[in-house]
Amino acid sequence: MHDLFNKAFDFCKSVLTNAPEAGHDWQHTLRVLHLSETIALSEPGNKTTIQLGALFHDIADSKFNDGNDDKGWQTAQTWMNQNDIEEITIEKITHLIKNISWHKKYQYSPAEFPELAVVQDADRLDAIGAIGIARAFSFGGYKKRPLYSTSENETDSTLSHFHEKLIHIKDSMNTPTGKKLAEERHQFMMQFIQKFEQEIKIN
Ligand code: ADP
Ligand code: NI
Repeated sequence: MHDLFNKAFDFCKSVLTNAPEAGHDWQHTLRVLHLSETIALSEPGNKTTIQLGALFHDIADSKFNDGNDDKGWQTAQTWMNQNDIEEITIEKITHLIKNISWHKKYQYSPAEFPELAVVQDADRLDAIGAIGIARAFSFGGYKKRPLYSTSENETDSTLSHFHEKLIHIKDSMNTPTGKKLAEERHQFMMQFIQKFEQEIKIN
C-alpha cells in the first residue's frame, strides 16, 4: 500500500506541478492531503480512500478544463484501473471527486460517506484563513477581477466572493474536527475583511 500511495503521489504531483493558477496547484493538493490526514486521526473513514481522494480531488478541475466536469474522475479512474485498485475503492474515489465541490451542493450525512466528509473538510479549510485569503486573490487575479467593486466597476470582485461564499464555510463543515479547525481560520479571515473594508472606505 505504501508503494501505491507513492505512485499516486508522484502521478498527481507531475500532473499538478505546472497548474495554471497558484490556488489550485500541487501545493493546494499537498495541503489538502496533510489536512485530511490530520482530520482522519480523529474521524472515521478508510485511510487509503482518504489519501487517494485527497490526491485526486482536483486532478482536472472543470474551471481549468473548459467546464469539463468529467475529466477529473476519468483521469483518476484510468490511473486506478492501471494500478489494480479494487473496484469498491475506485467507485468511492469517483463519487468523491464528482461531489466534493461546493457548487455541487451534494447533500449527504458524514456517516454515510466519511471519506468525502474528511477530504471535503480539508478542501474547505484551505479556502479560509490566511491561505484562503491568498487563494481567493490569486484566483481573482487569474480571472482579472477587481479586488473590490466601486461605482465604476459593478462587476464581480474578489471581496464579494468572501461575502458570497468564504464567510459561510465554517458553518458547512462536516466533522467535529473540521469544525474546530475552521473556527480560528474564520476569525482571522473576518478580521482581515473588517480591516480591508475600513481601508477602502478611507481611500
Ligand atoms: P470548490 O473546490 O469547493 O468548488 P472552488 O474551486 O470554487 O471551490 O474554490 C477554491 C478556491 O478558489 C477558493 O480558495 C476560492 O476562494 C477560490 N475561488 C473560487 N471562486 C472564486 C471567485 N469568484 N473569486 C475569488 N476566489 C475564488
Ligand atoms: Ni481543492
